[in-house]
Amino acid sequence: MSARSAIEPAAFAELVAIVGPRNMLTADDERATYERDWTGRFVGHTPAVVRPADTHEVAAVIDVCRRHGLALVPQGGNTGLVGGGVPLAGEVVLSLRRLATVDPVDVVARQVTVGAGVSIAAVQDAAAAAGLRYAVDFAARDTATVGGTVATNAGGIHVLRYGGTREQVMGVDAVLGSGHRVQRLQGLVKDNAGYHFASLLCGSEGTLGVITAARLRLVTRHEHRVVALVAFADVATAVEAVAAWRSILDSLEAAELFLADGLALVCDAFGLAAPFAERWAAYVLVEASAHHDPTDELAAAVAVADIGDVAVATDATRRAALWRYREDHTLAVNTLGPPHKFDVTVPLGRLAQFVDEVPQRVAATVPGARTWLFGHVGDGNVHVNVTGVAPEDDRVDEVVLTHVAEMGGSISAEHGIGTAKTRWLPLGRSADEIAAMRAIKRALDPDAVLNPNALLPPSV
Ligand code: MLT
Ligand code: ZN
Repeated sequence: MSARSAIEPAAFAELVAIVGPRNMLTADDERATYERDWTGRFVGHTPAVVRPADTHEVAAVIDVCRRHGLALVPQGGNTGLVGGGVPLAGEVVLSLRRLATVDPVDVVARQVTVGAGVSIAAVQDAAAAAGLRYAVDFAARDTATVGGTVATNAGGIHVLRYGGTREQVMGVDAVLGSGHRVQRLQGLVKDNAGYHFASLLCGSEGTLGVITAARLRLVTRHEHRVVALVAFADVATAVEAVAAWRSILDSLEAAELFLADGLALVCDAFGLAAPFAERWAAYVLVEASAHHDPTDELAAAVAVADIGDVAVATDATRRAALWRYREDHTLAVNTLGPPHKFDVTVPLGRLAQFVDEVPQRVAATVPGARTWLFGHVGDGNVHVNVTGVAPEDDRVDEVVLTHVAEMGGSISAEHGIGTAKTRWLPLGRSADEIAAMRAIKRALDPDAVLNPNALLPPSV
């Protein structure tokens, strides 16, 4: 990794002049939470955390860093899972959390403009207050911020119905590494006047520009919502059932898979009662929402499949209780120590085989390592978590990611490449594609100021 860790006094003074001394954090205790990722696997060091208040200050900070040869790691809620938002090579942290404005919801356009530092939960709340809904949702909703989720094209639990973050982003305000400002927040649905910067920046992991605000699409808020937890004798039957439900259930908006071991871990970690008397190999949590009550159509769809057991929840408290079995997997796995986290897509027809084979390959590589599998089965996205392996030991990374590539999958479904997976990017991207990505990076961030160690493998 390229490291530029000290800030010379002249540059320091310029940064302080832009954000003010209170927003230039240099004390150990002030910097600590910005230097470490949520899992505890990625811990770095920064000379300072710079906290601008608006796009003008962001632009000024980037300008100082370009002139003084300082690298920046943009950071939102610091919920990333691939080491892409922490200063692993001594970079300055550019925290966007102060950019926290929420404009009034545009009910006519069904859109809202929000600052990069606004949490996903706050966007959801603003949308709900206007009778609408923000479709992106996942367990880290209270902490993850809009800027980070746009920069990583965050997925989550509703992708199968509404698409990922890219499908919700109508426009952005951003400062490129070149210093150019891209400001397109009108929210025009049809806008073919040139390059679509929002699409390019979405998923660029802070390597091309710093997103300071986003114009987000909102969707219909349904009055009725029902959740069912369905148990299966094996993963293959669960995958087949979800495929059938996708064709017959228009109201389906989530289909989440977890396994017996993961459920037991969650129940142990948080003192929850098991959902069923019997232990089943696989569980799928399905959620449906509609203007009419979808309970009957969900029950009819579930009955079509070869299921072991089912629990249905229509009221909010019981729905949340069922969701805990799935959403608390991340927290429960972390109680065992920092995991190696993989977030992969495999073709649906091979998902059951993958789930079966991965734990065996991991255990054969690092004896004693344990594999925890869960994810968004509706879109082929499996989260493979491995515990009992030292953070810097990447033998399991090699095994899991190579396996995914052999199966025709992607090494990142939603978490991104970050710094953790740059080495393996060539498994899923051709040399030509990586060369084209480097050309884009050079054009938009010519001084390699923005997240220089993320996404692209080091050039040789
Ligand atoms: C999830 O789906 O729970 C998130 O992607 C977080 C994780 O993979 O741990
Ligand atoms: Zn996920």
